[in-house]
Amino acid sequence: MTTVVPPRTKSKDFLSVLDLDAADLVHLLDVAARLKAERALGPKAPSASALGGAHVAMLFEKPSLRTRSTFEIAVRELGGHVLHVPAELIDGSREPLEDIARNLERWVKGLVIRTFAQEKAVAIASCTTGLHVVNALTDEQHPCQALADFMTLRERWGSWKGRTLTYVGDGNNVAASLAHAAAMVGVTMRIASPKGYELPDRALQEARGVAREGAQILLLEDPLEAASGSDAIYTDVWTSMGQEREAALRRETFASYQVNDTLMAAANPGALFMHCLPAHRGEEVTASVLESSASVVFDQAENRLHTQKALLQMLIR
Ligand code: CP
Ligand code: NVA
Repeated sequence: MTTVVPPRTKSKDFLSVLDLDAADLVHLLDVAARLKAERALGPKAPSASALGGAHVAMLFEKPSLRTRSTFEIAVRELGGHVLHVPAELIDGSREPLEDIARNLERWVKGLVIRTFAQEKAVAIASCTTGLHVVNALTDEQHPCQALADFMTLRERWGSWKGRTLTYVGDGNNVAASLAHAAAMVGVTMRIASPKGYELPDRALQEARGVAREGAQILLLEDPLEAASGSDAIYTDVWTSMGQEREAALRRETFASYQVNDTLMAAANPGALFMHCLPAHRGEEVTASVLESSASVVFDQAENRLHTQKALLQMLIR
């Protein structure tokens, strides 16, 4: 089997889906599909030494199962090494963030960071030239999730052409990155949220700005109206990490936004159910929908690994 070297992405970093252009994004998903097929070859896979022993640092200021596990496995399966940087080091009390970044740059090729403010990841990326910074979730965006989601959709749909994806719930980090990617690949996305919890205008305008092939990004309030005629229904937790104090109010506000059998029945026959996980059964989704044959949530979780391997290969050389 020959080694196919994927092209570099246009940006040094991956802080947002918008750091890719549409061609990069489609290419990344093609590479991910190949890596998925080749994974059975184990150490004999053509990508097994793609990182050539490079180190990748991981810094997580919030909990993670999927993102952290899949990045660690991805680095190892590409022949790199993982370095864990304790999260408390970047609280600003010991040394400036920019100094930490410029230290790391001398030792490692990549930094996978999960933090609160998007600006923190941007600051690290901006003060380094040789460090490839990957956004593993911020309050604003979750771009790695969107890569796996669109890989999953293409596996199920064959093509994205003419499809409609509906997101029901909080206009949060997951929704923002999903909207960026949907627009870029030409999928129409509807986002149904209660008043005050809509997708921020900036993310909406950014998504509309990169829309291709007639894709529309639409904000609605009524979840049933949004679900009608959709090919996939996506939801996420009502209370994201860092918002725990708002949980009771959010449970009340989002009560009519639960993805249940009635909502799924409003979508097209064969519509998929998607969730980035972790899921709260009985809140944003019922157990019956999550466990139904429409649910592709574990495919999404698996595809985190393949898409992140493709991403690392395209960013780090
Ligand atoms: N979907 C996702 O990012 O999961 P984790 O928070 O467990 O990484
Ligand atoms: N919106 C959620 C996603 C978790 C993967 C959060 O930020 O907590």
